[in-house]
Amino acid sequence: MKVLVATEKPFSKAAVDGIRTIVEEAGYELALLEKYTDVQQFYDAVADADALIVRSDKVTKEVIDHANNLKIVVRAGAGFDNLDLAACTEKNIVAMNTPGQNSNAVAELAIGMMIYMARNTFKPGTGCELSGKKVGIHAYGNVGRLVANKAKALGMEVWAFDPFVPTEKMEAEGVIVPATLEELYANCDYISLHIPANEKTKGSINYELLSKMPKGGCLVNTARKEVIDEAGMEQLLADRADLKYVTDIAPANQAVLAEKFANRFFATPKKQGAETAEANMNAGLAAARQIVGFIQNGDVKFKVN
Ligand code: 3PG
Repeated sequence: MKVLVATEKPFSKAAVDGIRTIVEEAGYELALLEKYTDVQQFYDAVADADALIVRSDKVTKEVIDHANNLKIVVRAGAGFDNLDLAACTEKNIVAMNTPGQNSNAVAELAIGMMIYMARNTFKPGTGCELSGKKVGIHAYGNVGRLVANKAKALGMEVWAFDPFVPTEKMEAEGVIVPATLEELYANCDYISLHIPANEKTKGSINYELLSKMPKGGCLVNTARKEVIDEAGMEQLLADRADLKYVTDIAPANQAVLAEKFANRFFATPKKQGAETAEANMNAGLAAARQIVGFIQNGDVKFKVN
């Protein structure tokens, strides 16, 4: 039984060691493909793998077509938009994620990004404080909820909108729940995005919605690039000199935004929301354990297809 870890952006050494221990104690073999630069390397490595662990690596139909023995693929992380679920299902391959395992790392980065923008990207000059400001959590899942808790501790007023979470649950946690998404954007100084990328959400954070933000508003994106209408965002930053955009996922028009809106736009050089020692360890080990649980006991608790 061969377990392949294919990570263009590798796990920490400690996390790989932990994955190896779990895999080898189960009597399986670990294969490692890190920092690959050509998809052909992925095709070759997956050919004889029985199980696959990835991060944001794209598990396309082509990857699946090259996999002759694959039974399970686990995305070590929350978002599984990088997995071609239909291709997996067609070949009877179970697809899973590891929800919650890297949430705290992402939530901490979202708060850090708010502070970074509030303090003028650490350039000299007068910034402002988060305390007393309103933050709108767009989707109250594992990450959104943690951002809400941390924001409350900083003295922020927390709003949240999530049609999949009962209003009473959010209100019981001290969160203000507006009737509509538009109201969330219209009322909050910061909007923190925590929606997945899917057919419904792609491009949904558009000019019209963002233009509802109050003066000085800031959008914080630790979710996905695809949910932003990038042309709309560029137009909005041009039309509204008061708005800011900070993102952990570089947009296609990054160079243009950085040049035109230097003090109001920032993108991390490489997605680093889940890049902590703790998150690497939690998500990597969870993925390895889920594979062992599936192979040995047929456990499909985190199956997403
Ligand atoms: C996730 O969906 O869990 C995050 O986006 C983390 O992605 P990464 O594993 O590529 O850092």
